[in-house]
Amino acid sequence: MRVAVIGVGYVGLVSGACFAQFGHHVHCVDKDPQRIAALCAGRMPIYEPHLDALVADNVAAGRLTFGTDLAAAVRDAEVVFIAVGTPARRGDGHADLAHVFACCRDIAQAIQGYTVVVTKSTVPVGTGDRVEHIMRVVQPQGAFAVVSNPEFLREGAAIADFQHPDRIVIGTQDERARAIMTNLYRPLAEAAVPLFFTTRRTAELVKYAANAFLAMKIGFVNEMADLCERADADVAGVAYGIGLDRRIGAQFLQPGPGFGGSCFPKDIQALIKSAQDYGVPSRIIETVAAANEQRKRSMARRLIKACGGSVRGLTVAVLGLTFKADTDDVREAPATSIITALQDEGAEVRAYDPQGMDQARALMPDIAYATDPYSCVAGAHAVAIVTEWSAFRTLDLARLRSRMAGSVLVDYRNIIPAAEAAEAGFRHVGIGRRSVTAERPAPRIDLTEPQGAVLPELAVAAG
Ligand code: UDX
Repeated sequence: MRVAVIGVGYVGLVSGACFAQFGHHVHCVDKDPQRIAALCAGRMPIYEPHLDALVADNVAAGRLTFGTDLAAAVRDAEVVFIAVGTPARRGDGHADLAHVFACCRDIAQAIQGYTVVVTKSTVPVGTGDRVEHIMRVVQPQGAFAVVSNPEFLREGAAIADFQHPDRIVIGTQDERARAIMTNLYRPLAEAAVPLFFTTRRTAELVKYAANAFLAMKIGFVNEMADLCERADADVAGVAYGIGLDRRIGAQFLQPGPGFGGSCFPKDIQALIKSAQDYGVPSRIIETVAAANEQRKRSMARRLIKACGGSVRGLTVAVLGLTFKADTDDVREAPATSIITALQDEGAEVRAYDPQGMDQARALMPDIAYATDPYSCVAGAHAVAIVTEWSAFRTLDLARLRSRMAGSVLVDYRNIIPAAEAAEAGFRHVGIGRRSVTAERPAPRIDLTEPQGAVLPELAVAAG
């Protein structure tokens, strides 16, 4: 099939490359000529594991091309994906749809023959209707269908998520569009991935509802973590114990410094706004958002407390700046809030991240950046691990400790075994568990697989 993708940001580029890998002919366009020139030269505008190789393979096979001429791309395509950005609108938190509306006008002017126009960008419920209306005004007789097909790609795992999704959600009631979308996703349907066809408005809402639900799980486990700290319980055991109930599921129960990134915070705000506009405010999601903001702001406090109540004049090493591992994205990252609060309290901050330092430098030019974790901690009084990069899981703790002036290690992702940190001479402060020193060891918590399938079966029967 011939596919056009408008916008080579994160979603557009990953989707375009993956559709090309299915065997389709994909032409990606963007209005930014520099971005297109870089892609033509094999340089990726974002960091995503395996993306460069996937793009190179498909370009070499002649299935993936890049350009700036939207009209030409649309003229030739059976399916056109809108994958432009929908940032939060300044001031009110609504999704800003200016790019979407601008590009649907351009698409309407260019279409020739029956064309399926698909919104891949995350858009509030009802946007498809507005896109269709705008296109009809431009092309009253045009043969097209406007379809919603949200993505569920995680940064850092986007290619695997595209190739092995839990489901494909397609919002359309146009039979011809349905057949074309089925063809487009045939390789996944043949691999037994469910294609869920529904109305366009339902599909649009599925995306926001999925993100809000996942954020709610994280918010919930973070709240349990706070309770565990007060009650001397361990949140890892609580998460494991509830996750064995298949109605709950084990994923997205990792406690941490609060969720960030370019999707959860923005999409939740947009959902809150939609619910308010429809006159049914979502108290639950409003609380999840507020609790998360408050959590990010409060996270520096546990490090300050571990340092004896003040960090004035102390050096703090921050390992991890991105909002999670395997990305270079620092948008809405908890590290930013932690660093700002530490600076406000008079600390000297030195930071290191395997991928996020370029973005972080632009955002926080006034902190020192190190070239590796060991030089980052040199002379520091405390070290904070804020992102769960795998390189941080295998740090030589004794070496780390020997380079430092102090012994505080705040492990905001619970990735360092507390007992090993204590053995290396650290005072280990985690999330949702007792803080540990060599004199005050951690209690043993068994998180190995339970014997047999008794527990999950019981859970289902009890439900
Ligand atoms: C998310 C959704 O997962 C994806 O389906 C959607 O399309 C885009 O938004 P992404 O933002 O890439 O993807 O990251 P994700 O892995 O979902 O993590 C989001 C945030 O939650 C991160 O800050 C992460 O550290 C945090 N998180 C995630 C937790 O704190 N605990 C968890 O158990 C999982």
